[in-house]
Amino acid sequence: MAGIVVVGAQWGDEGKGKVVDVFSAHADLVVRYQGGANAGHTLVVNGVKTVLHLIPSGVLHPKCSCMIAPGVVLDIEEVVKEIRDLKAAGVLTNSEQLKISDQCTVLLSYHRKLDAAREVAAGNEKIGTTGKGIGPAYEDRASRKAILFGDLFDRERLKGKLEASLKEKNFLIEKYYKQEPVEVEPLFNRLVELAAELEPYRSKDTSLVVHRALKAGKKVLFEGAQGTMLDLLHGTYPYVTSSSTITGSACIGTGIGPSVMQKIVGITKAYTTRVGSGPFPTEMNETLSERLRQEGGEFGATTGRPRRCGWLDLVALKYAIRVNGLTSLALMKLDVLSGHEKIEVCTAYRLDGVEIKELPVSSNDLSRVEPIYRTLNGWSEDLRNVRAIQDLPQAARDFIQFIATEVATPIDVVSVGPGREQTLWIKPLFS
Ligand code: IMP
Repeated sequence: MAGIVVVGAQWGDEGKGKVVDVFSAHADLVVRYQGGANAGHTLVVNGVKTVLHLIPSGVLHPKCSCMIAPGVVLDIEEVVKEIRDLKAAGVLTNSEQLKISDQCTVLLSYHRKLDAAREVAAGNEKIGTTGKGIGPAYEDRASRKAILFGDLFDRERLKGKLEASLKEKNFLIEKYYKQEPVEVEPLFNRLVELAAELEPYRSKDTSLVVHRALKAGKKVLFEGAQGTMLDLLHGTYPYVTSSSTITGSACIGTGIGPSVMQKIVGITKAYTTRVGSGPFPTEMNETLSERLRQEGGEFGATTGRPRRCGWLDLVALKYAIRVNGLTSLALMKLDVLSGHEKIEVCTAYRLDGVEIKELPVSSNDLSRVEPIYRTLNGWSEDLRNVRAIQDLPQAARDFIQFIATEVATPIDVVSVGPGREQTLWIKPLFS
């Protein structure tokens, strides 16, 4: 069966949105399976920029269907805004193009309020969340208090669940965080209004739809959000997001078995970035960081925050290959490294005086490692107009080869800019 997973191999913001958009030209269905509006996928088509937070990046291809699966926490205001924007841009012309699972967890204003209040209360210990309410929404799911997307279409059930939820949440908001409570009635009325707009996109069983599509020989892409190092269980805990971001999450979030996956493509930049707090072994000094930030446009698509920048970390990449079972890589933003005389690539760490090649899973240990670099020659040429691998400067080709050899994983795709045409294929997607 032809399932392909696209997963972030670093700390998010690797360029998954662009890869999914480019791959979608060859796919029938794109499924978003975890995370929420904390993600920001920037797509540039014919010079026009579209930023998506919830709707899968395949939406710009009219023949490709899109789905939001149960593993997603659905910010109801955000999804309605995205639908409206896409419709206004003449993109989402038919409700059959997008289906949202009845089983998605609904994310509401009080989740965002709690997320923000907690970060303020944490002071220096804050996670540096996107403030989109992700943690509190997943907590509701785990504690079996969540309002599901399907609940929005049953007024009585919705009202009951909202009242029960707000009773507890408002206690925290008012008594502990000393903020204004959220009122039931206006929120309920707003949800009824939004539900009417969202009803055409409703699907009772998205797992069945995906299963049938795969059985019929359709090509299905599974679009991950965030990145491996932000995984709730396998990332740099507690500086992580609240969902599982690794490949297994595609199966859990969608409701399908792993045997349908034909390929698992890990997305990595030619360097590394992260936003928010937490260990980052290859973080650069501020001068170099600022240079990459400016040249690579490294500011959050969701929050606008400047991203922390560092050299490519092959220890972390090898870890991502292992925990995701990656079958190949897409190397993004190679063009951003142009103009560096020398390029550093981290191939090992030193911890307590000992050289190690495996990533320490404890964040405490990871924050103490010292990166060991291999210095490669840089190149001065502008790569943005290169359209074939063989036309890249030798030093850039050596850089690609070095990575593939070190991590023993093929690189299928190299990207030299945000546009679709700036994608260099080494191996076709479905082969
Ligand atoms: P949350 O997901 O908003 O709870 O944030 C938790 C951590 O994940 C913070 O360090 C965020 O900066 C990070 N994070 C969440 N979503 C993204 C993303 O799409 N790209 C990069 N970092 C993210």
